[in-house]
Amino acid sequence: MHKNRGPVYYGDYLQLPKLLDSQLPLSRKFADETNGECHDEMLFIVVHQVYELWFKQILHDLDSILKVFKETYIPEVELSSIVQKLERIKKIQGLLIGQFEVLESMTPMDFLEFRDLLIPASGFQSVQFREIEIKLGLHTSDRMDVDREFFMGRLSEVDRAHLTEVEKSPTLLKCLEGWLERLPYTDTKEFNFWAEYQKSIEGILKDDQEIIEANSAHLSDKQKHMQLENLKVTRGTFDSLFHEEKHKELIGNNQRKLSQKAILNALFILLYRNESMLTMPFHLITALMDIDENFTSWRYRHALLAQRMLGTKIGTGGSSGHQYLKRAADNNRVFLDLFNLSTFLIPSSRLPKIPVEVKKKMSFNV
Ligand code: HEM
Repeated sequence: MHKNRGPVYYGDYLQLPKLLDSQLPLSRKFADETNGECHDEMLFIVVHQVYELWFKQILHDLDSILKVFKETYIPEVELSSIVQKLERIKKIQGLLIGQFEVLESMTPMDFLEFRDLLIPASGFQSVQFREIEIKLGLHTSDRMDVDREFFMGRLSEVDRAHLTEVEKSPTLLKCLEGWLERLPYTDTKEFNFWAEYQKSIEGILKDDQEIIEANSAHLSDKQKHMQLENLKVTRGTFDSLFHEEKHKELIGNNQRKLSQKAILNALFILLYRNESMLTMPFHLITALMDIDENFTSWRYRHALLAQRMLGTKIGTGGSSGHQYLKRAADNNRVFLDLFNLSTFLIPSSRLPKIPVEVKKKMSFNV
């Protein structure tokens, strides 16, 4: 604990003179007889600055998480501290989504009064936002061609070099992958969980086929054929989980990001989340999914704001505006693999029983 080193003055500590002297509306600078200062430009600046401050805090927490998470051994106590910081990021994201309402108290007509003064500046150039995206696990190569051009093309040399450097460090997605791959329990001397799980799936799919056959009296040939075809698709999806080659193909097509081993172990955590040793890993996975979902909500909310302000006009950064932002919301997902795991969940009653020796290892009273 630090001890007091002498009197501190509120304004000095928070550097308020610097902070509060940093709102400089361009419409004030260029005011003339025809065009005066636009009242709402102050709101526009303050809201953006508040966003950037919260981005700074998110990066501060993300950096601290990555420092621990990139290690190959993570003690239990560190894991709970990671989850605690992720929970904080979630709370901040709630504010980020809520704040758009304040900006929407500015009408599109009020925005039009000063919008042209901003060209070609744009949120495209928010280096901190890009840094968050990258540190979470969104790589330049994950972006569509046109977006990639927007991503780097609008930045200064210095900012581009900085982000290129950031891209070389481990991301949360990569750290998660390594950590999941190291999870014990699924393939031990006593127990091969995946062989047992596959047997359960086979049983479930066989039952499904029998149900379709048994009910075929009520179905037309076409309906029966369709249901059996759907079952084949489900079987194919499960196959893609267990066959390394199929999994690699999906990674190659950008349809999956995590390694097969990491995905299987994440699924194990979800299936047996109530076992003591899996409770914290389950919270970690859930927090990452929440963060991904919150960023997606932020993107959709921001796209709606842009539509409200601009209609179908292009953005100050030159993109198609609302259309671009909606596409980014659909595509820029980092932890989508975790969401897709729900495809492979099965009822608890059909889960393979874990042998006592393995169960003991997964409980705190060993
Ligand atoms: C009047 C309010 C706003 C409008 C009309 C608006 C519009 C846009 C548009 C059209 C884009 C696409 C790039 C372009 O062509 O310029 C964009 C990107 C962006 N804006 Fe905004 N924006 C507004 C407020 C904000 C606020 C408050 C933030 C908070 C920091 C923000 C952050 C961003 C970010 C980070 C991007 C890049 C998104 C990406 O590439 O995925 N914007 N904005």
